[in-house]
Amino acid sequence: MSRQLHLNLFINSRGHHEASWRHPDASPLPLTDIRFYQDVARRAEAGLFDSIFLADQLALGDDVAHAGRGWLEPITSLGALATSTSRIGLIATASTTYTEPYNLARQFASLDHISNGRVGWNIVTSWLAAAARNYGGESQVSHADRYARGEEFMEVVTALWDSWADDAILDDRATGNYARPEAITPIDHAGAYYKVAGPLNLPRGPQGRPVFVQAGSSETGRRFAARHAEAVFTAQMEKATAQEFYADLKKLAAAEGRVLDQVLILPGLSPLIASTEAEAQRQSRALNDLTDPEVGRKRLSGRFGGYDFSHLPLDKPLAPEDFPDPDKVEAARSRTEVIVGLVRREKPTLRQLLSYLAGARGHYTTAGTPEQIADLMEDWFKTGAADGFNLMPPLLPTMLDVFVAEVVPLLQKRGLFRTEYTGTTLRDHYGLKRPPSRA
Ligand SMILES: Cc1cc2nc3c(=O)[nH]c(=O)nc-3n(C[C@H](O)[C@H](O)[C@H](O)COP(=O)(O)O)c2cc1C
Repeated sequence: MSRQLHLNLFINSRGHHEASWRHPDASPLPLTDIRFYQDVARRAEAGLFDSIFLADQLALGDDVAHAGRGWLEPITSLGALATSTSRIGLIATASTTYTEPYNLARQFASLDHISNGRVGWNIVTSWLAAAARNYGGESQVSHADRYARGEEFMEVVTALWDSWADDAILDDRATGNYARPEAITPIDHAGAYYKVAGPLNLPRGPQGRPVFVQAGSSETGRRFAARHAEAVFTAQMEKATAQEFYADLKKLAAAEGRVLDQVLILPGLSPLIASTEAEAQRQSRALNDLTDPEVGRKRLSGRFGGYDFSHLPLDKPLAPEDFPDPDKVEAARSRTEVIVGLVRREKPTLRQLLSYLAGARGHYTTAGTPEQIADLMEDWFKTGAADGFNLMPPLLPTMLDVFVAEVVPLLQKRGLFRTEYTGTTLRDHYGLKRPPSRA
């Protein structure tokens, strides 16, 4: 079969547009109602998506007065989604900075069993400065330290998932032998950050390990992804930078000895789809009209580690000097580079920049007809910018429904996307090998 495109649905609030939560077409259910997530996941499964994904931050943003905040914890939510879907992959975010590896290894192994092999882990180091203060710290753990800790974390959790051979359980009632102890081995890890004896207290899941997803984009982040990630999320504002990222990450992965089709790159795509381009533009403007620039200003400050933008007028063109040097930002460094790059190129006013970021926080946003969206996806897929997409509908569930009804059939007709699920696990959907146990 020819190379197939992969689709992940990123579920965020009532959609990715900052004002989606208050739009009349958005879901009427509260953001703490699991039926909202179950409903959206089932719709994505009907559209044959590879997976859904839940992000997470470990602190409440300071824009809750006017933004759709306060979501369910992702690992807990996946437990519920695993039993209300049957084929689609399920990816949850969890932090290497603020979680103990033994806890995380148990939770994801359990979810892999509960979902019959459909779980993925979005590995984050948690860039939000406020998170540190919820975990005993005074100030943010530095960018370098977060990634150093993350490396050791990966060593520990991988060893834990591999501390059981696949055939360690006998469950033989006749002989009274439940397991083969020689196939379950301690890990005896003692490093700079963690001391973990092991073994894990439950067997490997159907996939061996969860699918590793990662979204670091700084130089350190890319190296981390090249070593560990099987799917890479990335925020790109134009095709040229997406191609540059794609080529660089594949090159880094090759240098790590990775097989390149085992490292999938999925840029974010937030399409507003309507039957004509003019109607799509009109809907896009209607969403933007619901935004509050002061909410955007606070979010921008959070992106830059709490930098104060309150003195900047809304309607004067911005200059790169209005921002701190991205190299000195300890939060999500690459996203700050994306934003400063846009300012350098296009010199928007603060109001224009905030309006752009309101669409999908620095991911690629576009408004057009189903054909235009399918053309764009095919183009990026065939010209070295993407192995698939992290779909970020501006409004949920309506814009997901339009995508499934109108764009998916076009992709199928062009032979780019599956017409049925052929496998059962997330590894099957993504075409990823099951890692053998080291035990
Ligand atoms: C699609 C996508 C989803 C992300 N989800 C989360 C998340 O849920 N939690 C989080 O702390 N960071 C999240 N991030 C941020 C990344 O993990 C990472 O911190 C960010 O891309 C900056 O990486 P860098 O510091 O290497 O530049 C996400 C990034 C992208 C592109």
